[in-house]
Amino acid sequence: MKKPHRLVIAGDIAHRKKSLALFFCLSVVTLLILLLPAHGPDRPLSTTASPDVSSPFAGNLRPPKLAYLISSTRGEGRRVKRLLEAVYHPWNYYLLHLHLAVSPEERADLDDYIRSERVFLKFRNVRLVGNADVVTLKGPTMMSTTLHAVAILLKEVNDWSWFINLDTWDYPLMPQDDLLHIFSYLPKNLNFIEHSSNIGWKEHQRARPIIVDPGLYGFDKADVFWIKDKRSMPSSFKLFIGSSWVILSWSFLEYCILGWDNLPRTLLMYYTNFLTSNEGYFHTVICNSMDFQNSTVNHDLRFTMWDNQPRQSPLNLTLEHFSQLLESGAPFARTFTETSAVLDRIDKELLNKSKSRFCPGGWCLGSSMPGEDPCANFGKPHVIKPSAGSRRLERFLLNLLNAENFRPRQCS
Ligand SMILES: *[C@@H]1O[C@H](CO)[C@@H](O)[C@H](O)[C@H]1NC(C)=O
Ligand SMILES: *[C@@H]1O[C@H](CO)[C@@H](O)[C@H](O)[C@H]1NC(C)=O
Ligand SMILES: *[C@@H]1O[C@H](CO)[C@@H](O)[C@H](O)[C@H]1NC(C)=O
Repeated sequence: MKKPHRLVIAGDIAHRKKSLALFFCLSVVTLLILLLPAHGPDRPLSTTASPDVSSPFAGNLRPPKLAYLISSTRGEGRRVKRLLEAVYHPWNYYLLHLHLAVSPEERADLDDYIRSERVFLKFRNVRLVGNADVVTLKGPTMMSTTLHAVAILLKEVNDWSWFINLDTWDYPLMPQDDLLHIFSYLPKNLNFIEHSSNIGWKEHQRARPIIVDPGLYGFDKADVFWIKDKRSMPSSFKLFIGSSWVILSWSFLEYCILGWDNLPRTLLMYYTNFLTSNEGYFHTVICNSMDFQNSTVNHDLRFTMWDNQPRQSPLNLTLEHFSQLLESGAPFARTFTETSAVLDRIDKELLNKSKSRFCPGGWCLGSSMPGEDPCANFGKPHVIKPSAGSRRLERFLLNLLNAENFRPRQCS
C-alpha cells in the first residue's frame, strides 16, 4: 500500500512545514508583485472564489482554476483523447480547437466522445470550439485561433486564473493535482512566457519579411505568401520573440482581448503580416506594457530539447530522455510522436494513468485495485492530493523565481 497522500485542504502540520519554505520564498515575489500599480479592472468575482486569495493558508482555500486550449489538426483524434485524459481535472476548463482541415467525421467522433463521457457530463468543463477556424501554418491565423479561444474562455467562464495552450505534441509530466497544488502558492498575475529581444537571425527571417495569410479571407488551405518589399524594424515599440507555448494570467489576457490600451490592438495589426506571429505577439505586448512587464517569468514551463542552432524544431523525445524529463521538474514537455514508448512510461511512472483512463487525483474515489478505474467514482473537484511531482515543480519554480533568474531575465 502506498502512503496516504498529504491533503492541501486538510493541511496537516508536516505538510505545512515543507510548503512554508515555498510560501516564504514566494511571499517576497508576491510582495514585489503586489506593490506594482494596479492594472485594469479587478478580476470579476466568481461564485466559487474564496474571500482571501492572497495567502495560501487563509481559511479553506480552493486551488486556482486552469483554462486549457488543446489545438489539433487532421488525423489527431486519438492523440487529443489521450492528452485530454492525461491533463483532465474536473476543477479546470478545456476548450478543444480542431482546425478546419479536420474532416466532419473526425469532428463528430470527438464531439460524441465529449458528449458521452460521464465525467465531462457531470462537470461540464470540456467543449469544442463551435466554428472551426482556418489555420495556416506560420500565418497569423494561428494567433487568431488562440485569441478566439481566450475570448470564449473570458466570456463563458470567469473564474479561471491561468490559460495554458497545448497541442497534440505536448504531454504532461505530472498529475494536475500537483500543478494545482503548487500554483495555489503563486501570485495570480504571474505570466510564464519565454521571450528575448535578442532576435538575431530571426530579424531577417521574421521581422523584415511581410507575409499575407490567405486563411484570413478564404476557406481553402493554402500557404502564406511573401511580399517582395521588406519592412524596417519597428521604432515605436521593441520586438520580442520566444516560445508560442505560454501560461498566461487572466488579467493579462483580459488586457489583450479588451484592449483598453491601444497597444494590444496596434500590435495585433502589425503581427497580421508577421511570419509565425504566435512566437512574438504576446511577448511583444507584455514587454512593451509598463503594467505587465514585471509580471513575466522567462520560461514556458515546458521541457524541450533542441538539436543545434538555429532552433527550428525541437527534438522528438524518446525513452532515452526519460530521466531528463523527470529531473527537469517541468510540468509539461514537447514534442512527442504518437507512438513514442516514453509516453507509456510517463503514464505509468509519473501520472499513474492506465490506458484510456483519466490521470487519477484527489477527485477520484473509486477502488484502486488493479484493473479498477479509480475515477469511475468521483467526489469534490477541489480536493487535491499532490504527489511527488509537486516537489519537482516546487524546486523548478523556486529556481526560476530566485534573485538571479527572475527580475534580471524580464523583458531583456
Ligand atoms: C518594474 O520593475 C523595475 C525594476 O525592478 C522597476 O524599476 C519598475 O518601476 C517596475 N515597473 C512598474 C510598473 O512597477
Ligand atoms: C518528429 O517526428 C515527426 C513525425 O514523425 C517528424 O515529422 C519530425 O520531423 C520529427 N522531428 C524531428 C526534429 O526529428
Ligand atoms: C497508482 O494507482 C493505483 C491504482 O490505480 C494505486 O493503487 C497506486 O497506489 C497509485 N500509485 C501512486 C504512486 O500513486
